[in-house]
Amino acid sequence: MIRQILYLSDPCPDAGTPGEVLDGILAVSRRNNPALGITGALTMTSGTYVQVLEGDPEVLDHVVAEIRDDHRHTGLDIVSDRMVELRAFSRFAMAFADPQEAARDGVADLVRQLHDGAGPGPATALIRAMAHRAVEDATASH
Ligand SMILES: Cc1cc2nc3c(=O)[nH]c(=O)nc-3n(C[C@H](O)[C@H](O)[C@H](O)COP(=O)(O)O)c2cc1C
Repeated sequence: MIRQILYLSDPCPDAGTPGEVLDGILAVSRRNNPALGITGALTMTSGTYVQVLEGDPEVLDHVVAEIRDDHRHTGLDIVSDRMVELRAFSRFAMAFADPQEAARDGVADLVRQLHDGAGPGPATALIRAMAHRAVEDATASH
């Protein structure tokens, strides 16, 4: 079994332009995550970061604590935290799900439901939508 966390957070406007900030986060994630056995995906929708992290439970405790302290965002809210049989992003150190394509899958709507405290249904649907749109080496700048 593997731990899978889904969280939402709010970008800090003074951290830089959204594309540059996202690219920086993707780069550091792709550098660090393989050695940590972490996989996942990141996107942004309606001004909210959405990240899925998968890995060993204790490793994730440390990584999430570090990410929570990152000044590039605030208000990190874990909306789903569960043990799963299989990784949804096994091929990806940190996939990027293109916001425009994700929007077609109703991702923004699912995020709104999760913000409002919805249960596990929207979280599962959101992770599935991100897996559908996940791409290996894309960056946010193009
Ligand atoms: C939204 C968001 C997601 C992040 N995701 C990861 C991640 O998956 N892996 C990671 O190592 N760092 C991630 N970071 C960056 C960490 O907060 C931190 O800057 C980084 O781990 C420091 O790595 P370094 O010591 O190698 O410079 C993320 C930051 C933000 C704002």
